[in-house]
Amino acid sequence: METNKGIIFDLDGVIVDTAKFHFLAWRKLANDLGFDFTKEQNEQLKGVSRVESLRKILEWGELELSKTEFKRQMALKNENYLSYVAKMDKSEILPGVQKVIDYLIENNIPFALGSASKNARTILKKINLLDEFDAIVDGTDVSKAKPDPEVFLIAAEKLNVKPENSIVFEDSVAGVQAANNANMISIGIGEEKTLGEADYVFNDFTEIDIDFIKKLLTK
Ligand code: G6P
Ligand code: MG
Repeated sequence: METNKGIIFDLDGVIVDTAKFHFLAWRKLANDLGFDFTKEQNEQLKGVSRVESLRKILEWGELELSKTEFKRQMALKNENYLSYVAKMDKSEILPGVQKVIDYLIENNIPFALGSASKNARTILKKINLLDEFDAIVDGTDVSKAKPDPEVFLIAAEKLNVKPENSIVFEDSVAGVQAANNANMISIGIGEEKTLGEADYVFNDFTEIDIDFIKKLLTK
């Protein structure tokens, strides 16, 4: 297919449901420190870097940690999170995602990963998708967290696609804002009431049919 467009996928909560593992690991950390946070508050952690997430959580718990303890807690959280990741395989790819990826590959449409996670490559490897992406931009490549557009702008550049021709799939508020800030087409995966700022919102990939993708690519 002739197109000047490219696709950028967020990872956690879009390709795989690791958002639930992040939640479990952060909640354990909070509980161990003597407090809790809500599902609504958790929405604010999606798409947000590890450091920024811990800062927010400590603010909610009205707790201050020394630099050393902060680092130790971050490492503990990641260790706990990775214990869930270790059990993952390609059956964890969310329903409907593979069909879209297969279509992109068959039609030579460039696609990239744009994730805040430093564990992105580990996860892609576990689900056998590491070699499928034309470019991978993750938490090790960026200095500014979503909603800053940096991660998506680098991904588009690597795909050699203009920002306005880039289509981003995101499950987080911060990520949808990052895509909008990059002047890209944003597609929210999740609830309309949370992701209303996106250009389009679907509950999940099973609601997205290939015709919709085709239309976006040929627009
Ligand atoms: C993604 C997730 C966040 C997570 C961030 C950093 O954006 O949505 O919940 O905090 O990545 O992930 P990492 O695997 O590096 O801790
Ligand atoms: Mg996400």
